[in-house]
This record gives sequence, C-alpha cells and structure tokens, in this order.
Amino acid sequence: MKAILLAGGKGSRLFPITFGVSKQLLPIYDKPMIYYPLSVLILAGIKDILLICTSEDIDSYKSLLENGSKWGINIQYKIQKSPRGIADAFILGEKFIGGDSVCLILGDNIFYGLDFSHQLNNVVERTTYGSEATIFGYTVKDPHRYGVIEFDEKGNPISIVEKPKNPKSKHAVVGLYFYPNSVVQVAKSISPSERGELEISDINKFFLKKKKLIVETLGRGFAWLDTGTPESLLKAGQFIETIEKRQGVKVACLEEIAFKKGFITKKQLIKQAEALEGTSYGNYLLNDYR
Ligand code: TTP
Repeated sequence: MKAILLAGGKGSRLFPITFGVSKQLLPIYDKPMIYYPLSVLILAGIKDILLICTSEDIDSYKSLLENGSKWGINIQYKIQKSPRGIADAFILGEKFIGGDSVCLILGDNIFYGLDFSHQLNNVVERTTYGSEATIFGYTVKDPHRYGVIEFDEKGNPISIVEKPKNPKSKHAVVGLYFYPNSVVQVAKSISPSERGELEISDINKFFLKKKKLIVETLGRGFAWLDTGTPESLLKAGQFIETIEKRQGVKVACLEEIAFKKGFITKKQLIKQAEALEGTSYGNYLLNDYR
C-alpha cells in the first residue's frame, strides 16, 4: 500500500497567518502539524509516501522532511498547481500509486487514541487484499462543516453528504481514507462540485453505491482534531501539551514511532536525537533511548 499526504490548499480560514507559510507547517505545540498525519502513516506501516503541496511550499517541505530516510520511509513530492479539491490527489498521484492500493491522509488532521495502530493495521491488510474502501466516522457537535454519514437502523451507511445544511447525523467523515487501486479511475470520472472542487465525498458515494464502502467508527475516547481555524489550531496545541505533560510521552514523535516499527535502528534514532539535543523533542528521545 502507498499513501498520499495532502498538504496543499489555501488555508484561507487562517489568513493572514497562512499568507506566508503553509498551514501544515504551523506548530502544534512542539512540532510541525505535518508530523501528526505523517506519524499515522508510519504507525500504519506504510513506507512509500507522496506529499502533495503548492509550488510555493515545496522547498519548505523538502527541507523539513527530506526524502524520509531519517524515518526509514520514502517521501516523494508533487505540486498541486491550484486547490482543485481533495480527490485531485488520486489524479496527481496516479503514476506514484501505480497498481497499488492507497491511503490518503489530510495534512491538517490530528488523530490520537488507544489501539489506533491496531485498527490501522487491520484496515491496511483488508484494503491491500480486498476491493473495499474504508473511511472513518467520528461524532462531532458541528457536522455541517464536514462530510456527514447517515446510517440505517442496522448501522449500515446509507448516505454521505458534503457539508449539509441540515445534517442527518452527527457522524463526520475524518480526513483518513483507504482505497483499492480503482480509486484512480473513480477520481477521473467525477466532476467538480458547485464550489469547483473534486470532492472526496463523491468518491466515497461511488464506493457506497457499489456496496464497497466500510465505515469504521472512532469512539468517544478517541481524539480527532481539526486545525483549520485560529481557535482549533490553538486548542489542538493545548490538547497535545496537556497529554504530553501529564503522561510524559510525546505524541507523533516520528523517530520513536519509526524505531518501534523497526524502520530505523536505535543508533539512527540516537544520532537524529543528538542533533536536537537541548530541545524538548530531542531530550525526550535521548532520555528514553540513549
Ligand atoms: P481544507 O481545510 O478543506 O482547505 P484549506 O486547507 O485550503 O483551508 P481553508 O478552507 O481555510 O481555505 O483542506 C483540508 C486539507 O486538504 C488541508 O490539509 C489542505 C488539503 N487540500 C489540498 O491539499 N488541496 C486542495 O485542493 C484542498 C481543497 C485541500
């Protein structure tokens, strides 16, 4: 399985902050936002990643993430010339995806919760060998801001509506999606919506219609955080600070996750941590692993 990490977009709800810097490079407490979705991909055991961003930001992402070898992964880059929508990722990534199944994660989504890596590993396995797509539903107070899933009384998904005025449920679709290879052709077959974007909800509706869409739920003990507005950006940082200070663990510490997955050696971890000695991030790794 391959993965696309989507880090383009305008970030217009964060203007003027994002006039000069990409949203996904902004800090969430002690590390850049993009580390959080990247940590999900490493946890899922996915090594081949395509990062999509704007032409203005590509050099910043390359400086930060390089080719991914410091975490034992391969990162390639692709420019999205204009924000044509989330589903554009599969068209831009067609060559990269080749004949594989693919995971898409939004660069501004944060996931944190018990047993997530176990859940991810199961979905990766099912998608690699099967023909179903998997998306995740999460209960939110303000579903009209998201794609919303309606379920029948047996819990089967029956509709998905993008940003509905009158949501039929409180289940929002989160920014993490798993598809079989056919998603590339599906993306090519859809038309832009009224707001001029290729909508990920249209892709999900296609799989739903074919009875090939599995919706897993992320329960109430799980945190799915959005970082698109000044308030949610600040709240996300405060949430991470609270967890990290209380538990003495770091969320989305890429070297630690890569080491635990067997992607890098302890020696590599320590070498990278030494370059960060004196920071809370570097000291955390050195205290635990040196
Ligand atoms: P959004 O939050 O929908 O859009 P945005 O980031 O441009 O922000 P705003 O609405 O404030 O203008 O995007 C969700 C994620 O998907 C985010 O990480 C950016 C990314 N994205 C792209 O890379 N390309 C796109 O064409 C779109 C629409 C989003």
